[in-house]
Amino acid sequence: MMGKAYNMPNWSSWYKKKGYKVEPEIPSISKMLEPNSRVLDIGCGHGRHVIYFARRGHHVCGIDSYKVVLDQLHNGLAKLGLSAELKLGDITKRLPYKGKQFDLILATRSIHHTTSRKFKRILKEINRVIKTDGLLFLQIPAYENSQEVEKEWKEQGKPVTHKWIESRTYVPLSGPEKGVPHHSPDRMELLQFLKGYKIIGIHTNQGHYHGYSVIARRRS
Ligand SMILES: C[S@@+](CC[C@H](N)C(=O)[O-])C[C@H]1O[C@@H](n2cnc3c(N)ncnc32)[C@H](O)[C@@H]1O
Repeated sequence: MMGKAYNMPNWSSWYKKKGYKVEPEIPSISKMLEPNSRVLDIGCGHGRHVIYFARRGHHVCGIDSYKVVLDQLHNGLAKLGLSAELKLGDITKRLPYKGKQFDLILATRSIHHTTSRKFKRILKEINRVIKTDGLLFLQIPAYENSQEVEKEWKEQGKPVTHKWIESRTYVPLSGPEKGVPHHSPDRMELLQFLKGYKIIGIHTNQGHYHGYSVIARRRS
């Protein structure tokens, strides 16, 4: 059965705001990589992390469903004299890569734009394509934080701007992400997934990101 198609927002204002500055965890992750590693950026967007790792000589793959931005990234890489393997695709489907081939997988602020069932499928696909001993860097929303924010908003009498459609998945009712489901795992759900990993770092509510930032290494 075909899954429901959502109108994904135009992310250009997000990319503009973010610029090409990488997440603060990236340099230390980079130090853990062997030369010529294979890196996959899931939901790579304008490619700030694709560019960072391509610059350091790694073989980088990026996948995103937003064609405009992938074209821009393709041209941007060429201007910098860099290359990466970019694919237009839906990350909630089977990823177009063979199993156990990536030394590092990045999924920063991308894989939660879906329902709980599809989110689980993405995690399963990550487990399929990452190498044993491969590194994973996730940035995903934290359910606990969204509950706190919601409570504060209610106390302050602010209007509700989203609707919960299933356990830990909400849909914004307005704004650029209107209608796009957002799955926000809680710590238990996250730790359940991470059972196959050695956790190197797990943080939430840091200055640069209020969700979960996880660095982990695949065990088997
Ligand atoms: C907030 S941006 C983050 C971009 C990038 N990961 C970064 O940290 O700079 C979210 C990205 O996820 C992509 N994305 C969300 N859902 C997707 C899907 N189902 N298939 C492919 N890409 C998706 C969007 O197109 C967008 O580029």
